[in-house]
Amino acid sequence: MDSVYIDPVLSDEERRAHLYRGQLFVYSPTAASMALIEFTRDMIRRAFGTLDPETAQFHMPVEEYAALLAELKPKFIHDPKSKECLRAILRDLRCDLEKTYFDVPRMRTATSDDYLTSGIAYAFHPHRDTWYSAPQCQINFWMPVYAIDPENAMAFHPRYWGEGVRNGSSEYNYAEWNRTSRASAAQHVKSDTRKQPKAEEPMELDPQIRLLPPPGGMIVFSGAQMHSTVPNTSGRTRFSIDFRTVNIDDVRGRVGAPNVDSACTGTTMGDYLRGTDLAHLPEELIAAYDTAPSVVA
Ligand SMILES: [Fe+2]
Repeated sequence: MDSVYIDPVLSDEERRAHLYRGQLFVYSPTAASMALIEFTRDMIRRAFGTLDPETAQFHMPVEEYAALLAELKPKFIHDPKSKECLRAILRDLRCDLEKTYFDVPRMRTATSDDYLTSGIAYAFHPHRDTWYSAPQCQINFWMPVYAIDPENAMAFHPRYWGEGVRNGSSEYNYAEWNRTSRASAAQHVKSDTRKQPKAEEPMELDPQIRLLPPPGGMIVFSGAQMHSTVPNTSGRTRFSIDFRTVNIDDVRGRVGAPNVDSACTGTTMGDYLRGTDLAHLPEELIAAYDTAPSVVA
């Protein structure tokens, strides 16, 4: 990886080829991305009532705050409007909706000053999504809901694009995780005991790259990219939206970023929905990626 493309005029094919080589993309807000931002802000506003969502954490007991997010986040994910906006965003970015499959958009929060960094507001340690059973062709989209600065952004760790890290991904299986851990996220208020794939050797996190698009601006990157949540010291909670896509040609052809160190089993392939009609990928393609754990726990 060596480049950050800003609003390039490229086809989706060309962009994917660059993403699989580790390049990063930043897009300015579009009408569709701003529609998603407005919809999200409205939902957040209703949840927090009279409190400013970016500073509400300083005025609420943490358990109450976690409970509020536990209600707000699934509501956002399951609202048909968020999927609708997402299709329009992909269209704006020249994706072929017949071939592009997306996972439902998620709302994330990164609270300031270590107020809540576990469970429902998990502060992501450096990781690749491919440690979590995402395919090598997964592409991630990330956008801030309110203005961000370096103290509450997300970070990329470019050294590890081409270099593996010893990590715990071999113990991660997506189906197993869904069965046991995800439902309990809201219970992890003080600490998070769920076993996640992490680096198992010291990492060199600097130099790192923190891209700062405006609200509704998008960072696009490969799911194999090493990235993390910046420890938030900004005094404001960061709200962001992210979603993932795969292109069926790449799924079929096993095209994607090189795998330098992911050893997880299972697959997220069953989660993606076709841009046109929300159909799942064909069963046989999902099954082809669904590897079983080598050791049965
Ligand atoms: Fe991630």
